[in-house]
Amino acid sequence: MDRLQEIARRRTFGIVSHPDAGKTTLTEKLLLFGGAIQTAGAVKSNKIKKHATSDFMEIEKQRGISVATSVMGFEYEDLQINILDTPGHKDFAEDTFRTLTAVDSVIVVIDVAKGVEEQTEKLVEVCRMRSTPIIVFINKMDREGLDAMDLLDEVETKLGLKVRPLSWPIGMGSRFQGVYNMYEKKLCLFSPHGKQTEEDILEFNDLSDPELDKKIGEKPADELRGEVEIIETVYPEFTVEKYRSGELSPVFFGSAVNNFGVKELLDCFIEIAPTPRERETEERVVRPEEEKFSGFIFKIHANMDPKHRDRIAFCRIVSGQFERNTNYYHVRQGKNMKFSNPTSFMASKKSVIDDAYPGDVIGLYDSGNFKIGDTLTEGEILHFKGIPSFSPEQFRYVNNADPMKTKQLNKGLFELMDEGLAQLFTKEDNNRKIIGTVGALQFDVIQYRLEHEYGASCRYEPVHLHKACWVTSTDAEAMREFISRRKKDLARDKHVRLVYLAETAWSLRTVQEAHPKINFHLSDEH
Ligand code: G4P
Repeated sequence: MDRLQEIARRRTFGIVSHPDAGKTTLTEKLLLFGGAIQTAGAVKSNKIKKHATSDFMEIEKQRGISVATSVMGFEYEDLQINILDTPGHKDFAEDTFRTLTAVDSVIVVIDVAKGVEEQTEKLVEVCRMRSTPIIVFINKMDREGLDAMDLLDEVETKLGLKVRPLSWPIGMGSRFQGVYNMYEKKLCLFSPHGKQTEEDILEFNDLSDPELDKKIGEKPADELRGEVEIIETVYPEFTVEKYRSGELSPVFFGSAVNNFGVKELLDCFIEIAPTPRERETEERVVRPEEEKFSGFIFKIHANMDPKHRDRIAFCRIVSGQFERNTNYYHVRQGKNMKFSNPTSFMASKKSVIDDAYPGDVIGLYDSGNFKIGDTLTEGEILHFKGIPSFSPEQFRYVNNADPMKTKQLNKGLFELMDEGLAQLFTKEDNNRKIIGTVGALQFDVIQYRLEHEYGASCRYEPVHLHKACWVTSTDAEAMREFISRRKKDLARDKHVRLVYLAETAWSLRTVQEAHPKINFHLSDEH
């Protein structure tokens, strides 16, 4: 198979949801279809979010597991499908945002009883910013939940998505009878516990067929006819182009745990989901078909074993062909590097690979050369866009608790920041260091890892801050004035970019009004 055929058969996507909506269950069913796993219960990733609101030791244990399930590849109908796992715990939302830069499409899972939840809103917003194609899967139809029409309204208003149902439920909870698949014009009857057979799938090109009343009863059949008619008049027509440009999201209904509606979702997915997409760099757009290799690092995972300090850098291949033991150019460091044992991830089994293609994610063993966002090429200077940092939500001063271990502390802090665990800011007025995180858990993780992996110890001190805003201006004079007047609230991030540390929402507004020529950004992607 040549390179272009390899690219054409790849589909790389992520599943996002609020914790407990059914992401793990759906992933597992998809892997079962692909023959990548044999038994249910094999995917244990991300279970941390359940118990671990404050149990970071649990997270440490889980980190080992989640390396294996970070990328789950499987073959289905001659396609190579790569599912990129996204942490469910909200304290690790940044990890998820970054993983979303490495996918070509996403499936959003929503719990029919809970509707659109907070975590999903944030994640979908990031997808919308990049026009990532989205399929929506409404899960747990075997439970009582919101009315399907109301739920679609909620998806449109809260997630800002234009939707088009491609399947429609017949009842829900104890009255759930199945779905009508409008895409394939088939009636799929529900039987619990995945006991659905071929006989439960019936062709129904015309819903006025009286056979429908026999199958699901007169009243539900009439309701279905009415609702499908409404859908066809109210919702826009589905086209693959609109979906791929991120304008329109098809919606499916099902029950992951009962393996119902999952195959239909997968079959539609492989037909419509995009092949590896082009990516923007600061210099130019890079297309997957280009002959020369390029890729970027979107995630770094430290080794759990403190005796082996190497880490795994996850590289998404954007163009060309990656080959083992070949020199590639590390753009930020301006040097060539060779990888003797790059790994691929086929459903929790890691194996060394000889080559990889656009759409693939490979693991590169790293002894500290990589940072998130780094680019590898065959020599061209390229910087991939869109690996954003967002303003942290929680801040603490970090102090050295053991003066004999200053070097270790600094090294540890910098390396943990490279992994994207948190952000480090250095105050302009007194050089004190502040760690900013999305959630409180990371503070414990950092302290623990500094001690166990670097032999350094740190103490935290509270600092009351609301947000960190990256500041820019095209007016040099205005910037000079701003810096001299606000020095005590300014800091530098790890790339030495200027950041304004706002104590409260009110103080941020006041400073914005006082300095109209300064732009304040809540992410470093501007
Ligand atoms: P997550 O990864 O999005 O956090 O969700 P996960 O798949 O772990 O599912 C959360 C819970 O919802 C699990 O139950 C799972 O069995 C259940 N679930 C998933 N799909 C469906 C569905 O279609 N219908 C119903 N009724 N439940 C569903 P749990 O009791 O928390 O865990 P478990 O002991 O069953 O694994």
